[in-house]
Amino acid sequence: MSDPKSVTGAIERAANATKQLQNIKANEQATVRLRRTESIMHRPVPAPLRDALSARTLFPANDARIATPIPTTGWETLRARPLWVTPSAVGSPIDPGNDYRVFKRLLARAGVRGLRLHDLRHTAATLLFAQGMLAQVVMQILGHTFGSPDAKRGLTAQRIRDGLRPLRQLPLQAEQIHSLDQVARALAKAVERAAPDGSSVNEALSGTASGHPLHPPLTDVVIGAWTSAVALDWLGGKRADPAADWLVALGALSALPTAAAGLNDWATLDGPTRRLGLVHGTTNVVATALFAISWLARKAGRRFFARLLALAGFGTVSVGAFLGGHLSFRRGAGVDHTAFLEAPEDWTAVADEASVKELEPLLVKTAGVEIVLVRERGSLYALLERCAHQGGPLHEGRIEDGCVVCPWHSSRYRLSDGAALSGPTAHPQPTVQVRVRDGNVEVRRLTNR
Ligand code: HEM
Ligand code: FES
Repeated sequence: MSDPKSVTGAIERAANATKQLQNIKANEQATVRLRRTESIMHRPVPAPLRDALSARTLFPANDARIATPIPTTGWETLRARPLWVTPSAVGSPIDPGNDYRVFKRLLARAGVRGLRLHDLRHTAATLLFAQGMLAQVVMQILGHTFGSPDAKRGLTAQRIRDGLRPLRQLPLQAEQIHSLDQVARALAKAVERAAPDGSSVNEALSGTASGHPLHPPLTDVVIGAWTSAVALDWLGGKRADPAADWLVALGALSALPTAAAGLNDWATLDGPTRRLGLVHGTTNVVATALFAISWLARKAGRRFFARLLALAGFGTVSVGAFLGGHLSFRRGAGVDHTAFLEAPEDWTAVADEASVKELEPLLVKTAGVEIVLVRERGSLYALLERCAHQGGPLHEGRIEDGCVVCPWHSSRYRLSDGAALSGPTAHPQPTVQVRVRDGNVEVRRLTNR
């Protein structure tokens, strides 16, 4: 049961809303739009009621509650011209029976008949929508947010989205830090010198040898170990200390090959993704340092300090992992760039047989996909044109010993089956079936790609 004072305050808010509507419709000064059940009708706002309502005071607690949650354009409008309607002073739903009784009393005192509180709520909602306010804000003002589970869920999601906005902006901002370019260039050169394309170190770190990128699975070991260590630190009690220490060490040790694989992948990136990758890598190096110091502190018997350091390291690696996720899933670093490309399902003519010359890759396009045709020692081959590594144009590459060599980072793909014979690619290049019919080269997708 709600406080009658809050109800009367709510009624005043409804009246204010009505008055606002009058202001907006300047040429219909004495008319407001009241919604009654299904129909919309025009009725004047009774002046005595307006005066009676305006005399009442607002509830600051209620205003403060509404003021906190949603920083939106709609909200700005709202704060500039308050239009409070019926939520209670403490934000709980108003008991409708009580609400109605108080409202009726007020109407009687003002000498007005046949007006329902609900009409005013509808009027206010219509007005707010008309002003371009977000539906969720309107629902909150009307108190629906706290009554309807659906609305509550919608608002919670909105709040989470708003709260996470700075985090979501972080990768986009990192991509724009142009001052990183110089150091990124120098570091990439050093990495390329240490693990040149096609070298066995490069192939091991890229995952060419294993046929799967190496960095992503290694990151699971690091993050998993550190997450478990922090959980044991704070929840496991004294008996869990040795296990936590081991996990800190395991994470820090496995961070070394993880960082090496990450650096190797990163060195082939460019522009914004390269900048973001540098911020990601640096963040994770800082996290690794924090865990390493935490381990030293554990050995020195400074357990509480060590736990705090590990906690800080955990926060840092979480941000780093978030940036890494952006790199992979938003920017496509490390993904197979042919993943969504498909040759036609049925045999399709794409070129004259005579146009495919020995050792001169020919680019053709069919059904929205680019295919490179290659003739080597008389045999015809067809592969998808975009390099699986980072989308390089294979038709501009060299043909050598039964392979096509990508012009961008020199990955070598076997013409006959697309196998990656040297890196940095970790993915094979999809091949396409090819045949000659009536002087035309025809292609068709492989069924078991
Ligand atoms: C402790 C060290 C590191 C951890 C825990 C880590 C973690 C991650 C995570 C979680 C991802 C997203 C991949 C996924 O979700 O599957 C990622 C991607 C990536 N990270 Fe790291 N990272 C570390 C060090 C580095 C370093 C030092 C670099 C180099 C600058 C780097 C470069 C990359 C790149 C380029 C990607 C995109 C995917 C790929 O190409 O492998 N990372 N990292
Ligand atoms: S795009 Fe990097 S090897 Fe082809």
